[in-house]
Amino acid sequence: MTWAPDSPFNDLPDLPPPTDVESKRILKQVAEARAALASLDQAARRIPNPRVLLNSIPLLEAQASSEIENIVTTADELFTADQLDEESTRPEAKEALRYRVALLDGVRSVRERPLSTGTLISICSTLQARDMRVRDLPGTFIGNPVTREATYTPPEGQRLLMERLDSWSRFIHSNTSLDPLVLMALAHYQFEAIHPFSDGNGRTGRIVNILLLIDRGLLSEPILYLSRYIIQNKSEYYRLLLAVTAESAWEDWVTFMLEGIRQTALSTIEKIDDIQALHREMQAELRAALPGGANADLLDVLFEQPFCRITTVMDRCSVSRPTATKWLKLLADAQILVPLKVGKSLIFVNRKFFSLLTRSERAPEPAPTLF
Ligand SMILES: Nc1ncnc2c1ncn2[C@@H]1O[C@H](COP(=O)(O)OP(=O)(O)O)[C@@H](O)[C@H]1O
Ligand SMILES: [Mg+2]
Repeated sequence: MTWAPDSPFNDLPDLPPPTDVESKRILKQVAEARAALASLDQAARRIPNPRVLLNSIPLLEAQASSEIENIVTTADELFTADQLDEESTRPEAKEALRYRVALLDGVRSVRERPLSTGTLISICSTLQARDMRVRDLPGTFIGNPVTREATYTPPEGQRLLMERLDSWSRFIHSNTSLDPLVLMALAHYQFEAIHPFSDGNGRTGRIVNILLLIDRGLLSEPILYLSRYIIQNKSEYYRLLLAVTAESAWEDWVTFMLEGIRQTALSTIEKIDDIQALHREMQAELRAALPGGANADLLDVLFEQPFCRITTVMDRCSVSRPTATKWLKLLADAQILVPLKVGKSLIFVNRKFFSLLTRSERAPEPAPTLF
């Protein structure tokens, strides 16, 4: 096998790797990551209103995954853009919002039909807001865009890329005895190494990670915030992807991904527990602040997105504008919500929920098997 950083890696081997990647150490790590993921799935099922997690966690994932590709937005910019369709919304925020659309569309898609090359194309097209095709032009590389020095050059030729992708999807649906988490790690490397699109490969690949977990029944909703771990360890992520190509360092790569799943599952559980505690706390606060108690849906609305519009309350609680406005203003007077003027619109921020969503949890201790 020949490989050089600056020539297209047309000899990229198909999966699975020739050596057994499931060493004893990897299997121990698999067990820990699977346990953490199972607890996350249970924690998510305990939340009575699934929209609470389904709006916000995919948006956080979108922000982190886009930031890995230097599409930088902040959570408050994104949550604002999500509520207000303003002309002033920056293209980066629009792009990150599309990531959540692509993720949720992808989830619907894997529930209906097997993940295929078509799914990949449609995810990437949603991300880029244009019809993406598998590359037919040379010139795509990973490296320094200024000096044009390449660290890795993916295969070239549309036919060859299509063949590699077909083989990729055969592998993920094959009757392999590999653990699904190991399979996910292998498939992620392989997809990135094929790098079938001129742009959007990183994000498409990270969406597919989540879809594979859903497909295998390990997660019922896309609420694993895995890109948080990847952005925190971005240089390691790049280094290890390259080391698979250059040195067949599969075990280090799989270890990295398994640890990511374990850590992210644990920190997402912590977030869910905190959200539930805050929900209970605010239930009492709302009761005290609103005469006659609040409409039962109001609390849910305030936890479906941290930035709330008057019209959302009108729609979701079936009340008039004066009533919705009165409720929100009373909650602002009681300092439960913070009013915020954005352009001509007024939104009300559930600040405690927002800071809970965006704060970084204490990173869980590294798994004992790593040392
Ligand atoms: N050495 C490498 N081999 C294969 N893939 C890599 C390597 N280094 C980085 N990558 C992947 O390439 C992605 C960037 O590709 P790109 O198409 O620009 O994605 P996006 O548009 O989502 O920005 C990274 O996020 C990573 O997943
Ligand atoms: Mg890019």
